[in-house]
Amino acid sequence: MSVPAVGGSVAERVVAWQVSHGRNHLPWQQTRDPYRVWLSEIMLQQTQVVTVLDYYARFLDRFPDVGALAKAPQDEVMGLWSGLGYYSRARNLHRCAQQVMVDHGGVFPRSAEILATLPGIGRSTAGAIAAFCFSERVPILDANVRRVLTRLLAFDKDLASAKNERLLWDLAGSLLPTHDLNSAMPRYTQGLMDLGASICTPRAPDCSECPLMGSCMAWRTKDPERYPVRTRKLTRRSESWQLTIVRDGQGRVWLQRRPSTGIWAGMHCVPVFSDEVSRAAFVSVLGESSKVSQEELQPFVHVLTHRDLHLHPTLIDVDIAINLPGDGVWLGPDQWQVVGLPAPIRKLLEATQTQLW
Ligand code: ADE
Repeated sequence: MSVPAVGGSVAERVVAWQVSHGRNHLPWQQTRDPYRVWLSEIMLQQTQVVTVLDYYARFLDRFPDVGALAKAPQDEVMGLWSGLGYYSRARNLHRCAQQVMVDHGGVFPRSAEILATLPGIGRSTAGAIAAFCFSERVPILDANVRRVLTRLLAFDKDLASAKNERLLWDLAGSLLPTHDLNSAMPRYTQGLMDLGASICTPRAPDCSECPLMGSCMAWRTKDPERYPVRTRKLTRRSESWQLTIVRDGQGRVWLQRRPSTGIWAGMHCVPVFSDEVSRAAFVSVLGESSKVSQEELQPFVHVLTHRDLHLHPTLIDVDIAINLPGDGVWLGPDQWQVVGLPAPIRKLLEATQTQLW
């Protein structure tokens, strides 16, 4: 067991710990080029480091600078992103590169405040880029860092409220390093991320290894897992679903059973995709020979308790009812009632029958 650093301010201990225990050999840490750092931060937003490594290398190989990315066709960007998920990140990435070229002369802005005006760059990502590349004295507050700081401060206010979130941002700002900013800001920023990823984990944090243990209010009360506090009730999420209605010559539709957990668990539904790339892969299986027509129908919003579903239906008519990828069945209108369809899906299918679109 290593001995956690004890002396100095919170920032000094995080910096010292990062030098000896943090991650220091990731490819995007070997540069202060904002293009590379930005790319890594966007990729890392919802994806683990091990997965990002390959994508990051391939991306840079193909798009070595922001100009190359900005002028690439969108399909190529989406193709290189394929498999990383959360495809809005790729669309924003492309838009952001174009905006850097058009509005900033091809040079990334050097302050977090201006970086945060670009597509796909939220306050925390802007802070990370500015701290890593320009040593700007600004905080970050991604999920890992939010956990570290709420525990350190025993911050028990509900982060579902914007006011409390702002308060935590202010507190995060008050803990920032005060000297040697050129080296301290990147170290401190990375150190908080590393602490959250390796020691201050959501479950069973390894407090005895933590350089902040001596100051940690949650450790004192022996209840670190209580933080951060966030009620679900104030959070509403939006999701975009691509609904794919495949219909054969007899009016039967290809229906699949939904997974046993989550929205519409266990019910039958037309195939759902979270992005165009995976829908396109599915549609390509139909082949041009069996596909008679394809029509985008009117999108609509279906409101659930905690979620707004933005539904984007496409109707594809085929002349032969081949079995499609994934478990599913061809069912006609008389069977839709029997198997149980989510109400908006049943209404949608009924509307396609009566050509209301
Ligand atoms: N997650 C987000 N940013 C990161 C970084 N710079 N290093 C490791 N994980 C991260």
